[in-house]
Amino acid sequence: MRNLGQLLQHGHPHPDTEGVTIAHPRGYELCGAVCFGGLRPWAYSRLARLSGARPGDRVLDVGCGTGYLTRRMAKAVGPTGAALGIDPATEVVEYARGRTREAHCSYETGVGEALSAADGSFDVVVSCLAVHHLPEDLRPAALREMYRVLRPGGRLLVADFRAPRTRPVRHVIAATTGHVMADYRVDLLDGLIADAGFEVRGCGDVRPWLRYVQGVRPE
Ligand SMILES: C[S@@+](CC[C@H](N)C(=O)[O-])C[C@H]1O[C@@H](n2cnc3c(N)ncnc32)[C@H](O)[C@@H]1O
Repeated sequence: MRNLGQLLQHGHPHPDTEGVTIAHPRGYELCGAVCFGGLRPWAYSRLARLSGARPGDRVLDVGCGTGYLTRRMAKAVGPTGAALGIDPATEVVEYARGRTREAHCSYETGVGEALSAADGSFDVVVSCLAVHHLPEDLRPAALREMYRVLRPGGRLLVADFRAPRTRPVRHVIAATTGHVMADYRVDLLDGLIADAGFEVRGCGDVRPWLRYVQGVRPE
């Protein structure tokens, strides 16, 4: 029997990436609401604040999915700034466009490991729950791409799934979403980010499921 994660994903490989892509945006949104137990708006607004984005900034959201964080980033930067979400899955990109009214918030299809943006074209790069969707060997390339498209002095915020330590809860996560999430080593993010060239400036947890790392591209 397919687990919940498999039901939400494409059943076939994506032509542009080996990453695991989301095929059912409405199902994903429902799972997000249920799994965060009502804390999703608070958690994502906190991520937007932790990113350090300011009015007027240009922001990129890598692996934006349904655009839940992208829209919060757009609010943070205001109409003088711009928020762009990218994701390989056309289904989530179209869904995100349908949920967004602000002209300064847009979406494109694209892959984190080979971004189409020019060098230094963003002030802030964010990414939430997307790094674990990439196979391990593509993760360093995705972090290097985030570094490349940030201007010197630009800020990075990567958040990802913090697998619980208690065995019964991990067992439930493995049964419902698979072992990639249950066994995900979010503690390795700091090293990946440092290896890509960033100065790691902070890290912490956002309840109930996220750990974040903040970085800066050196001037
Ligand atoms: C769990 S969702 C997270 C979506 C959104 N950031 C959020 O926090 O709700 C992971 C997303 O990563 C996307 N993804 C998969 N492979 C990717 C790649 N190579 N580059 C960028 N995003 C990718 C998936 O399509 C999916 O939308």
